[in-house]
Amino acid sequence: MFRRLLVTSALPYANGPIHIGHLVEYIQTDVWVRFQKLRGNDCRYMCADDTHGTAIMIRARQEGRREEDLIADMQAAHERDFADFDVEFDNYGSTHSDENRQLCGEFWAAIRQAGLVKEQAVEQLYDPQAGTFLADRFVRGGCPKCGAKDQPGDNCSACGHHYTPIDLVDPVSTLSGAKPEVRSAAHLFIELEQLHGFLAEWTQSGDHLQPEIANYLQGHFLGEPLRDWDVSRPAPYFGFEIPDSPGNYWYVWFDAPIGYIASTQQWCRRTGAALADWWKSADCEVHHFIGKDITYFHTLFWPGMLKTAGFSLPTKVHIHGFLTVGGEKMSKTKGTFIRARTYLDRLDPSYLRYFYATKLTSRVDDLDLSIDEFVAKVNADLVNKLVNLASRTAKFVEKTGLSARYPDDGGLFAAAAAAGDEIAAAYEACDYNKAMRLVMALADRANAYVEENKPWELRKDSSQAARLQDVCTAALNLFRQLAVYLAPVLPKLARQTGALLNDPITRWEQSQAPLAGTPVARFTHMLKRVEEKDLYAMIEDSKQEAAAANAAASTPAAAVAQASPGGASSVQPVAAAQAAPEDRWNDGGDALAAEPLAPECTIDDFAKVDLRVARVVAAEEVPEARKLLKLKLSLGGGVYKQVFAGIKAHYEPQQLVGRLVVCVANLAPRTMKFGVSEGMVVAAGGGNEAFLLTPDAGAQPGHRLH
Ligand code: MSP
Ligand code: ZN
Repeated sequence: MFRRLLVTSALPYANGPIHIGHLVEYIQTDVWVRFQKLRGNDCRYMCADDTHGTAIMIRARQEGRREEDLIADMQAAHERDFADFDVEFDNYGSTHSDENRQLCGEFWAAIRQAGLVKEQAVEQLYDPQAGTFLADRFVRGGCPKCGAKDQPGDNCSACGHHYTPIDLVDPVSTLSGAKPEVRSAAHLFIELEQLHGFLAEWTQSGDHLQPEIANYLQGHFLGEPLRDWDVSRPAPYFGFEIPDSPGNYWYVWFDAPIGYIASTQQWCRRTGAALADWWKSADCEVHHFIGKDITYFHTLFWPGMLKTAGFSLPTKVHIHGFLTVGGEKMSKTKGTFIRARTYLDRLDPSYLRYFYATKLTSRVDDLDLSIDEFVAKVNADLVNKLVNLASRTAKFVEKTGLSARYPDDGGLFAAAAAAGDEIAAAYEACDYNKAMRLVMALADRANAYVEENKPWELRKDSSQAARLQDVCTAALNLFRQLAVYLAPVLPKLARQTGALLNDPITRWEQSQAPLAGTPVARFTHMLKRVEEKDLYAMIEDSKQEAAAANAAASTPAAAVAQASPGGASSVQPVAAAQAAPEDRWNDGGDALAAEPLAPECTIDDFAKVDLRVARVVAAEEVPEARKLLKLKLSLGGGVYKQVFAGIKAHYEPQQLVGRLVVCVANLAPRTMKFGVSEGMVVAAGGGNEAFLLTPDAGAQPGHRLH
């Protein structure tokens, strides 16, 4: 039975470029969509730019042009970035479209009709010079609690206190530098509380949300009355004017999700499909992919709106965590806030698609991109394991083609075909990490087959021609089978494989039957090894872009336009949707309890220990020792140390080569059974764990830790 599926990713803000954090989501969704299509399901992927709000208005003013021109340019750039990452939408629209305006009117009428709208005066800071009300993030001032100066409009970075901008001491508008005044305006609110019963049931049914999200909503919002949602903004505002409330505009978060439907509407007009078959039919599943920061909007407001307006509720909202780079939030100054384009200028998009796939599970956990892991995974898995299967065998059958019958491969192809269901289930559950592990385990077996049968030796002996052809036939079929399984993640590799074996990859079932008797094209290069230096160059590029943008942002208003590429655009009563900043890591206290702090020491005591950044240049197992790896560390300048580290259970030797670690460089040498250990590598963790430490990008072997 084929399914009908309507899939969306969150609509990226038009006020900033696509960056590698966004790409977690667009790649995650694209993989899922490609998987569904490969399975034969009728699946469509809709997205659009999110164009409305104060930020765009301010930026357009700053650049001295119309909002429409600004958003058109941004959209073109976004679409180029997505296309170059092989993220393929069925329609990419805009929230500033006729379709969206019309649908917003339809939703609004239904919500009014249901008696959910009320009017209430709101006091807000107003910038008389810029002539606009000020969203939280366009105001700074003194903390009303602790008095810290120059704090943002919503909470204090010094004491963590939450407040509204009106409470700030000596507030200043970051748009103009003017002193804002308090003004009152009538706003329209949706009384979400009227939908409490429905939302409690929908969120807690167990079908639509990941369990941790359902619990979070229950614990943070559903245990008390739901707050009214302020959905209007007074002019000036870049958005749609509310038809029955002249001078007021729908708040960007009202019209943004309706943009999912508007984009589908555009696609329907283009292809002759009927919108109702996709958004008002029990036969169509609706799947949203979003990041955890916009949970509230998609799990409470949006279902409430859909329900009231008579559209399908989401079958599932798939929520992912945030990307960190080198264990930290992406940072412009550190060069880890990497734009999609900056990446593309240096690296192959397949690398990132695969890397993210290995990191993504069905949980909401954050995921980290570390350079060492990126390089290791791409080279070890994609180049050494995967592409090598083809590059080491295709050339031997370029003239003959595949054997007329599929040879005896010891049951390898059949076993890998049987694994197809488990791999498919992992994709379906968004557990791409598991799917990748299953595929790579199959790749290991295929490689072992090639190693055992040594085609490069068979070809030296002309009496072995038939065997050579058989071995290559098996290897290439095993390779193709993996390429089918990986096609959702690596569409380019799937295209190349289709061309090599003269059989385009379009269906999952192609993994179930080998090719035989068909021609093989001349092997052309598929994927090159990733070089660490290209990643560092990319980080350097990003630093320079950030510096250039900073220099350009010399006026306060320009600074605002640059400041928050992902920021929401206005005052809204749901700031609590994000937990207090210091709580959101949810750090347990077990490690500290298990190993309490050591007695106090002086700075001089500390200075006796000379900790240095070092690069692992060689690593091997010590066969006689259960726990030890033998490492060769470079401290730069041709200085090396041999160190035995008790991390055999935690790291594969080849995984370590090339990465930076921290070593105790002045530890007295110690003679062990296997040789002299001239230092120590530091790692975090208790009894059965070990986590090596890596410095931020930029640190060099030999740098001392102070
Ligand atoms: N415009 C809103 C979404 C409206 S949907 C009706 C928005 N835009 S955004 O550009 O800030 O983010 C788009 C998506 O990218 C969101 O789902 C967000 O969670 C995700 N990400 C943005 N930065 C991210 C990371 N650093 N890591 C992972 N995902 C991130 O929100
Ligand atoms: Zn404070």
